[in-house]
Parts: sequence; C-alpha cells; structure tokens
Amino acid sequence: MNHHIFNGDSLEVLQTFPENSFDSIVTDPPAGIGLLGFDWDKDKGGRDQWIRWLSSIMKECYRTLKPGAHGFVWALPRTSHWTAMAIEDSGFLVKDVVVHIFGSGFPKNIAIDKALDRAKYVDTDLIYKVTGWIRARRDELGITNREIDEITGVKGGASHWTAGPDHKQPHIPTKERWEKLEPIFGAPPEWMMPLIRPSHELGENWKDRQVVGAYTRDAGGLHGATFKSQDREISEPTHKDSLKWRGWGTALKPASEHWILIQKPISEHNIAANVKKYSTGAINIDGIRTPVKGEKIPSTSNLKFNGGDSAMWDFAKRSEASTYIQHPKGRFPTNVLLSKNEQISKLLNRQSGRKSSDVSTYFFNVEMDSPFLYCKKPSSAERGIGNHHPTVKPINLMRYLARTVTPPSGSVLDPFMGSGSIGLAALLEGFQFLGIEKSEEYFQIANQRLKGVENV
Ligand SMILES: C[S@@+](CC[C@H](N)C(=O)[O-])C[C@H]1O[C@@H](n2cnc3c(N)ncnc32)[C@H](O)[C@@H]1O
Repeated sequence: MNHHIFNGDSLEVLQTFPENSFDSIVTDPPAGIGLLGFDWDKDKGGRDQWIRWLSSIMKECYRTLKPGAHGFVWALPRTSHWTAMAIEDSGFLVKDVVVHIFGSGFPKNIAIDKALDRAKYVDTDLIYKVTGWIRARRDELGITNREIDEITGVKGGASHWTAGPDHKQPHIPTKERWEKLEPIFGAPPEWMMPLIRPSHELGENWKDRQVVGAYTRDAGGLHGATFKSQDREISEPTHKDSLKWRGWGTALKPASEHWILIQKPISEHNIAANVKKYSTGAINIDGIRTPVKGEKIPSTSNLKFNGGDSAMWDFAKRSEASTYIQHPKGRFPTNVLLSKNEQISKLLNRQSGRKSSDVSTYFFNVEMDSPFLYCKKPSSAERGIGNHHPTVKPINLMRYLARTVTPPSGSVLDPFMGSGSIGLAALLEGFQFLGIEKSEEYFQIANQRLKGVENV
C-alpha cells in the first residue's frame, strides 16, 4: 500500500514519526478566521493565537521532513501573511508564493446604497440605553459574553449587545436572538419592546426604492454553498443619501489563492551534496513546464538592453530573427497559475490587444491541449460519492503541486488531509502518501477515496 492515513490531531500523530522521514509536504490548512463557519475553521482567538497554533504543527512537519525538502502550503490572500509567519516561525524558508487565479469566486460585497435604505434608524443614545440594560442584567445574572454568544449561537455578538459608552459599535439584538435570551434575561421593559425587531425587517427608505428588474436565479457560491439573494428584485435607490453612495461597496471579488512555496533548509555543505544524500532540495522544473506544442517564441537572449534609469529589456526592438525553438517540454514554469476561464481570457486579450496565445501561454498550463491550466471546481465524480467536505481541492492542481516538490517515488505529507484530494494526487503521480485528519467523518471519506485509487 502506498498510503498511510491517521485519524487524529496532527500535532500528536506527527510526534510518533522519526525526524527526516518525508520528502515533501503539500497541505491546505484552515484559514482560521471562521470563513466557512465550521468548527475546524473557527478562529483561534485572533492572529497571534492562530500563528502559534499553525506554527506548532508546522514545527513537527519541519522535524519529520528531510533536509532540503520543499512544500506548498495553501493560504487565503487575506491571511496569507499569518500563514507565512507561522511557516517561518517553525523554521522553514518561504521561497515564493504561487498565485492561483480563477474566475469563479463570489464577492461578499455590501452595496452601500442598499445598506443605507435597509437600515432601521434608531437614535444612538437609545441603542446605548438598550445595551446598558442588557449589560446590567448580564452582571446581575453573573454570566459572561461568551456564554451569551453560546446561548444565541453567534460569535462576538454579545460584546455589541452589552456595549458600554466606550464601545464604538453598540447593537440591539434581533428578535430571533432575543427569543433565545429572554428565557434567561426575562421580559424586557415596555420601552425596549419596539426596538427589538426581526432581522428581515427593512428600514423606512426601502419602500421607496425603484424596482428595475428581478433576479432569475441565485448567485453562485463558494465551496458548493449557494448564496441566496436576500431580495429577488433588482432595485435602484431614490433617496438623496443612498443615491450618493450608489455603486459603492465593501469587498472585491476573490479571484486568487496562494500556495506558499516552502523549504526546510539543506543540512549538507551545498545543494548537490544535499540532493545526493537525501534526494531533496530540488524542484522539478521540467515536470511542470507549460507545453506549447513546438511554437516558436521570442528569445530573450537577443533583446537589446536599454540601460539608463529604467534598465528595462526593450521588447519593441526584438526582431523576427531573434526566435528559437521552444524547449521540447515547454516554457519555464512561473509562479502564476491561471484557471481556464472565458472571462479572464477575453479580458486579458482585450486589455493587451494581443491574440490569446501571446498572453495566455505565459501562464501555467496543465493540460497539453489547453492554453491555460484547466482547473475547474471539482466535479461530483472527482469529489467521490458522499464527499461533502466544503473545501475539496482540484486533483489536477494538486498533482501539479505534488509533482513540483516531490522527488521520484518520494513521499508526500499532508497534515490537514480533509477528504484526501492531495493524497489522491500523490498516488496518481506515483508517490507515497501520509495524511492526517482530525475529523472522523472526513477521515472516512478520504479513506474511501484513497482505497479507490489504489484498487484501480
Ligand atoms: C481546508 S481543509 C482540507 C481539505 C482538503 N484539501 C480536501 O481537498 O478535502 C482542512 C482540514 O484540516 C482538518 N484539521 C484541522 N485541524 C487539524 C489538526 N490539528 N489535525 C488534523 N487535521 C486538522 C480539518 O478537519 C479539515 O478537514
């Protein structure tokens, strides 16, 4: 059998392995900011705690990897710097960041004009009066904000509902939350009743919005979850305040993820000696070249150098004669991976005014006949029957990453295995795989998927 998987906490499981055991690591840890609302994804109490947590596991990975071993660690652009700090704190070198660009992300944007029209205006002094009452009751009852959060099923809500004068964001709990609090807090005083309103109740200005159309379907979703549009109607603001902010929002569309390229420093006096002793220390350049089907491309060796302040290579001066036959395995791999996507492709071509191959073939391409990495979201066939893990990674992309950092017949470590996509990729590339997953449920899914590959 080429895979060994463990159901447990990586920190504990890795301690049972001797040092210098594995050839590479490819892993997809939780982002740690409660992005998906799962228990394993919840925040660990802030940045420093999260970095300490990841670093403690990465230290064990460092110990068990061979000197010079490389790896890829997934990171969300928003918290990529946390991941990188945890990696460095555990002893690894951060060598590069491979950016995977895709077009299927969904912006978690709040349209400001809608937020203004939806808002229910309550005098701020009155809000503080409500939070003061809840705070006083909380203290009488001797319970904590954390307990209030648990009772109401929210994260951090209690600090807003019990806000004192120094707290900048006092909130009144919604009716749905209040119904959970009332059995403990008792009925609120008469004056508070009209202020506790349902979360779906719209502000006074909402009725004046002009309906200009209707959504025909739900907006797409992240990791298989569908975002339902809160309102089916497409409407435009009419109020002076909201008109002023029409077209303003709060977020960009996510279109990239990071794969941080890491390395355990070599232990020998030079790279050659390290590769000879451990087979680790190198990355597989020819194994991940971008195939270009014998196309002739401009040679940089004949470009004129401008010199001067800008010190730029002068592409305008290159001549037809300055071409050479492409390396038979394709272009030198880059640190940008681009998923095939019609919109991205059109956008790049429109902006550059070039034919598609000029721009697209500078990027990574995992399928021989495609100008891009064709890295669509995993299909249900790729996920496997019953695989409901919310962050299943595409096998083609995982194969590319594993192939980049793992020596021939080497072993790949994944301490955050989930449903085992990296394991599948490792086995399909002819590597050994060692995976660890804390959740029994996900472990069983990975087990089935990996057995399926081994039995083929
Ligand atoms: C982002 S998911 C990985 C998904 C995976 N790439 C896939 O394709 O299915 C991260 C996983 O790490 C697991 N996990 C979190 N903390 C862990 C720990 N301390 N030890 C082992 N697994 C852990 C979670 O249960 C979760 O399944």
